[in-house]
Amino acid sequence: MSHFQVKIMPENRVIEVEHGATLLNAAAKAGIMIKSGCGGKGTCGACKVVVLSGDPIIDGTGNLTSEQLSKGYRLACKTLVQGDMSMEVPLESRLQEHQVLLGDARKGFLQESKHDLLEKFGRHPLAMKQRVTLSKPTLTENSSDWARLSIELRRALKTGDKPIHIPLSILKHLPESLRKANWDVSITLTDTEEGLTITNIEQGNDIPPYGLAVDIGTTTVVVYLVNLITGEIVDQQGTYNKQAKYGDDVINRIVYAVESEQNLIEIRDAVLETVNGLLDKILARQSLNHKDIASAMIAGNTTMTQLFLGVDPRYIRLEPYIPTMTTVPSYPAREIGLHMLPEALVHCYPSVASYVGGDIVAGTLVTDLANGEDIILFIDIGTNGEIVLGNQDWLVACACSAGPSFEGGGITFGMRAMPGAIERIMIDPETLDVSLKVVNNLPPVGICGSGLVDCIAKLLSAGIIDRAGNFQLGHPSGSQRLRATADDKEFVLAWAHQAGGEKDVVITENDVKNVIRAKGAIYAGIRSLLNMVAVEIEMISKIIIAGGFGNYLNIHDAVQIGLLPDLEQERFEFIGNASVKGARLALLSKKAWREAEELGRKMTYVELSVGATYMDEYMAALFLPHTDITLFPSVQ
Ligand code: FES
Repeated sequence: MSHFQVKIMPENRVIEVEHGATLLNAAAKAGIMIKSGCGGKGTCGACKVVVLSGDPIIDGTGNLTSEQLSKGYRLACKTLVQGDMSMEVPLESRLQEHQVLLGDARKGFLQESKHDLLEKFGRHPLAMKQRVTLSKPTLTENSSDWARLSIELRRALKTGDKPIHIPLSILKHLPESLRKANWDVSITLTDTEEGLTITNIEQGNDIPPYGLAVDIGTTTVVVYLVNLITGEIVDQQGTYNKQAKYGDDVINRIVYAVESEQNLIEIRDAVLETVNGLLDKILARQSLNHKDIASAMIAGNTTMTQLFLGVDPRYIRLEPYIPTMTTVPSYPAREIGLHMLPEALVHCYPSVASYVGGDIVAGTLVTDLANGEDIILFIDIGTNGEIVLGNQDWLVACACSAGPSFEGGGITFGMRAMPGAIERIMIDPETLDVSLKVVNNLPPVGICGSGLVDCIAKLLSAGIIDRAGNFQLGHPSGSQRLRATADDKEFVLAWAHQAGGEKDVVITENDVKNVIRAKGAIYAGIRSLLNMVAVEIEMISKIIIAGGFGNYLNIHDAVQIGLLPDLEQERFEFIGNASVKGARLALLSKKAWREAEELGRKMTYVELSVGATYMDEYMAALFLPHTDITLFPSVQ
């Protein structure tokens, strides 16, 4: 197979790829992630690049306009290398490292409860390390190496009758391990219901055992390195999930994964590479070794969990939407391929159903909502909106497909909350002049989810759109910002000369309708759960919002557009990345881990596609804020 060089600008990076490789793959090989909303089918137009030189094969141009084509724009997923060439990847087509949600988003809630929960559950990590010094064998004291070690270990750990296992891979090297260490050894063990299992024997040392708490999101992956003795988060790192090149959402990933056995391996390897890459960075920074990692806890949605383990996900998306497993057995890291002690166990949070996964169970554990009389609503807004409602007596959960609008998908200038994203907007209702707040005070290049919510609230209050989201071109201001295009209507948020790109940054009528559909889906999900258990909105004592989007959300705006129920601001709380926090908690406490498994079983999953209730609620919510205005008394 012939190989060719592809130069990528503006990095000026040159990589070698095979004949027929797509520009999408070429960029990924160079470590440059390009947006690929449709998973490379040539339909979303997100992967635009500019071919600067060379003569690649064009396998499709999708929705590129003739003007774009004449400027050299091509779809990276449908352009194939057949000779040396160069391309430029524009800013708007890039998935950039951004502020992946690592920790506490807003002060208050988790700062206190995180600590309390660990105290409440009690610290008893899933792995431990014990240093022991053995007496040397003699002709009169001639018990076997394993007998000598296990007796001393049992004494040191005070384990009583709890069995201690030693895997064959470690037993094989036991004689040399003990003698080379001059009988002073540190033993790492995994602690499960079945007993203790030795996962490493090394020269005696005082390095503590570490664990990994991992949140595998569809878009981002976050890893915490946790000291298993102190519970401290020693380091953390987050990045994009490398599976993004196979599509933005779980459906596209599943479609790709089930095409062939090879595809499933490829997509599994992509997430594994992401987690291992983060881990390698952390270990290098901390001067630690893979052998210092004694345990891992993974929290992800059902599809992400199955893909991480390389389990065929096809039935998740086919009616009646059945996952392969909800409770996930724990496997040694060597079977999974994580860079840690090969015999150490990797645990995955249990799922509830195909679209309510381990990340939501982890979040529910951290909110502690199943342990009091108060009714609490927990919402995680991402590509899917997952909602849990309940208290100590009952728990119901559902997932509504909100679409990717709040994460920047399907919106003309949509982007995630990263530098250059518009996060707040002010519009003068008379002149329609605009002032913007942009992340890092940069020239605006797009608008993030919380900016969209704010924008729509302001468009409505300035009379630019009506309650159905229709643009009002006859606005009395006569502003040039409000205009019709060939196939849509739009409002200019920033003129090209003020913006960080070449074009005016606009929001279109179609964008507004997409956001209305997304917020309608989430509000309808909330109402459907409330109806099902006959709970009135007023009876909810707390609404806890998780996820990157929620992190920056303005509650007042969210209520104004009908995304969240009309309750006093004091009842809303933000939890940040609840998934990784739940992973850490379970890593440090066997009791918390048991409760997490119990939570998974206790939650009643409501399939919204069954019955007319959800559809009726959804149709009623396709209005700003709602067709039933009595549900939003504070909205003018
Ligand atoms: Fe290329 Fe969608 S058009 S990824």
